[in-house]
Amino acid sequence: MKLTQEQKNFVEDLLSRMTLEEKIGQMNQESPSIVGGFDVPFSELIEMLTDGRISQEEFGKIMASATQDFHEDDIRAGRVGSQMVREPRKNNELQKIAVEESRLGIPLIIGFDVIHGFRSVFPIAIAEACSFDDDLFESTAHMAAAESRAHGINWNFAPMIDAARDSRWGRVSEGPGEDPTLGSRFARAKIRGLQNDRSSLLNYVAACTKHYVCYGACESGRDYNTTSMSVSQLYNVYLPAFRAAMEEGAATVMAAFNDFNGVPCTVNKWLLRDILKGEMGLEGFVVSDANAIRECVNHGIAEDERDAGVQAALAGMDMDMGTHIYMDHLKAEVEKGTVPMAVIDEAVRRILSVKVWLGLFENPYVPEDVIEAYEKGLPEGHIALCKRAAEESMVLLKNENELLPLNRKQKISLVGSLADDRNEVCGAWALAWKPEDCVSIRAGLEAAGANVQYYPCGGPEGEIDFDEADRACREGDVIVAVVGETDAMSGEASSKADISLPGKQRALLERLLASGKPVVAVLMNGRPLALGWEAEHLPAILEAWHLGIRMGDAVAAALLGDVNPSGKLSSSFPSVTGQCPLYYNHPSTGRPGSKSKFTSRYLDAPWDALFPFGHGLSYTSFAYEDLQIHRIGQTLEITARLRNTGKRAGTEVAQLYMQDVSASLVRPVKELKDYRRIALKPGEEKKISFILPLESLGFYDNDGQYRLESGLFRFFVGGSSRDCLEQELRIAF
Ligand code: BGC
Repeated sequence: MKLTQEQKNFVEDLLSRMTLEEKIGQMNQESPSIVGGFDVPFSELIEMLTDGRISQEEFGKIMASATQDFHEDDIRAGRVGSQMVREPRKNNELQKIAVEESRLGIPLIIGFDVIHGFRSVFPIAIAEACSFDDDLFESTAHMAAAESRAHGINWNFAPMIDAARDSRWGRVSEGPGEDPTLGSRFARAKIRGLQNDRSSLLNYVAACTKHYVCYGACESGRDYNTTSMSVSQLYNVYLPAFRAAMEEGAATVMAAFNDFNGVPCTVNKWLLRDILKGEMGLEGFVVSDANAIRECVNHGIAEDERDAGVQAALAGMDMDMGTHIYMDHLKAEVEKGTVPMAVIDEAVRRILSVKVWLGLFENPYVPEDVIEAYEKGLPEGHIALCKRAAEESMVLLKNENELLPLNRKQKISLVGSLADDRNEVCGAWALAWKPEDCVSIRAGLEAAGANVQYYPCGGPEGEIDFDEADRACREGDVIVAVVGETDAMSGEASSKADISLPGKQRALLERLLASGKPVVAVLMNGRPLALGWEAEHLPAILEAWHLGIRMGDAVAAALLGDVNPSGKLSSSFPSVTGQCPLYYNHPSTGRPGSKSKFTSRYLDAPWDALFPFGHGLSYTSFAYEDLQIHRIGQTLEITARLRNTGKRAGTEVAQLYMQDVSASLVRPVKELKDYRRIALKPGEEKKISFILPLESLGFYDNDGQYRLESGLFRFFVGGSSRDCLEQELRIAF
C-alpha cells in the first residue's frame, strides 16, 4: 500500500480540518444493530437461543418483528469511520450519507468477513492450502475482491493466516495450516489477489490480515484461551506469515482476542507498535477484533472500559470494532492529557490513508449496472474457478489396491446425510452463498453420470438407520460413505475436546464394512480428524473438507477418475485426539519418539502423525531420484529427478525441507523451505530445481534477532514431510 505525495498531502490537509470528535469517529466501527421486537439486548437474545431458553421458532418470530439500525445519524455527524454491511444498495445509501451529508464528506470503509469467497464460495482455507498452488490462492482472492467490491465491501477481513497446530481449535478451518512457509506463501498470494489489481476500482479491496498474533496457539485448543511461548517461537512460527503479508503491502491487520505472554494483543504495545508498525512496517491501520477492547476488562488487564480504551489507543490500536469505547471515552482522555493528540492523529492518518488508497474519495459507490449484473447469477468463469479450487484441494489419504477411481458401470451406494446436503458444502465463515449455486455430492455424482443410489442412513448428528445401511450394502457394488462434520462444527467458538468422527458415524462405517463390500470414505470436515480407526479399517479415504459451492462436482470428478487428486495435507492428522497439538516441524527432543521405552512417546497411541503434513496420494505414482545440492555464490541449487511411474497423468507437489543439524537453539526436525506443483504424463520425467538463498537458512533467537549460523544442514526432497531423499551439506555463511 503506497501513497503518492499528493495523496499524503490530501490526508494531512483533511486531518488538519477535523475536529477531535470527527477524528475519533474515524476510529469507530459500527455494524447494524438489531432493534425492536424484544426487550433484551441482541447479544442476550443470541445467548438465550444458544442455551435453549428460547426455541429457533421463537427466535424467528422475534426477528421477524425486529428492524436494523444502520446508525445513519451517527454517520451524518461524522461519528462512524467504518461499517459492516454486505448489501450493495444499502452500502451506497450509507456512503451517500457519509459523502454528501457529513461535514467533511469522508467515505466509510466498509468491512466484511469474506474469508473464502463471497457468493463464489471456495474451499475453506485449510483445504485450499492443500493445493500448494500460489496461483490458485491469488486467483480466488482476486475473485473474492471483485465480488466484494460489487457489493459495496471495500475491506475484506482476510486472509486469516494464523499458524494452527492444534486441531481441537475450531478455527484451524480458516487458515492455511501448521507450516510457516506454506502460510507465508499463502499470505503473500492472498494479499496480491485482494489488493494488487488496480486496473479498476472494482478489482481490489483492502486486505485485513488476522488474527495478530498467536491466536492459533491458544492453550488446549480452546478458542479465545491464553497463549504463552518463547520469543523465538513467536518469531519463527507465528510471525512469518504476517511479515510476508506486510512485505506484500497488506493494508490492515486485525489484532487477536488472546493474550500473549500475559498481555492481550489488543493492548499489546510491543506487538502492535514495536513489531507490527515498527519492525514489520505496517503502513495502514490495526483494528481490534469484535468487542475485544471491552474484553480487556474480563482479561483483568483493565479496570473498566475507559481504562481498556486508553490502553488500546496508547498501544496503537487504531480502530475499535464494535464497542463504542473510543467514542465514549477518548475525547475526555485527550482533553485530560492521558492520550496524546499525536496518538489520535496517527490512528486517523492511517485510516484515512487506506481510504485514499482505496480510491473511495473519488468513487465511493457501486455502479447500478454492476449490482444488476451480479443479481443475474454467478458468471461461468466464477463457477469454473470454484470447481478448479475444489478439485485441487482434495487429498487422497489412502487408496488400497487402487479401489479408487470408480467407474461409471459400478453400482455406487452413496451413504450419509452430508452427501445430499447442499447447505453443508460451504463450510464455516461462508456468509453470502446461495443454495441454488451449491452442488451436493449426490447431485455431483448424478450429473457426472455415475450409477448411484442414495441412502441417507444418518450423519454427524442423531441416530443411524442401520436397516438402510444394510440395504445400501446389498444393492451396491461399492459403498461411498460421506462422513465428517457439519459446517457449524468448526470455525469460531467451535473447539472440540474429541476430534474423532462425531456422533455415531463410526458405527455406521462398522456396519458398512461388515457387509464385506468395499467402502470408500469421503470426509467432509473443517479440521484434521483423529482417524486412527478409520485408517486401519477403510480401504480408501478421500479428504474433501468443505470445498465450497462446487463441492459435489469436484468430489464426483475425483471418485470417477475424471480428476486425479493432487492435494497434500496442510496439517498433520493424528490417530487420536490426545496427540494434539501435533505438527511435523516440532523441535528436536533429546529422546525422539521410538519403540524404546524412555523416549518421547505415548504408551497408548503413536507419537507421530497418522497422515503427516505434505502427505497426499494420486491415482498414479511418482519416484524421486538423484538429489543434488550445489552452492552457487549466495544460493543453493537443490535438484532432483521426478518421474511419473504410473499409468495416469498426474500432478505432484514436490517439497523441499531442511534441518539445521546443530544450532544455538533447538531447531525443528524438518522445516519446509519451498514447494512446486509439477504435472507429469505417464512415464514422463522432469528435473526439479529449487533455488534457496543462503540467507533464508537462518532463524530468530529469543531476542528476535535473525541468526545465520554456519554448520551442518540436511536437505530433503520428496512428496511428503515423511518420505524424502536426504543429503547433508556443511555451510559457512
Ligand atoms: C472474528 C473475526 C471477524 C470478526 C468480524 C470476530 O468474532 O474473530 O475473525 O473478522 O468477528 O466479524
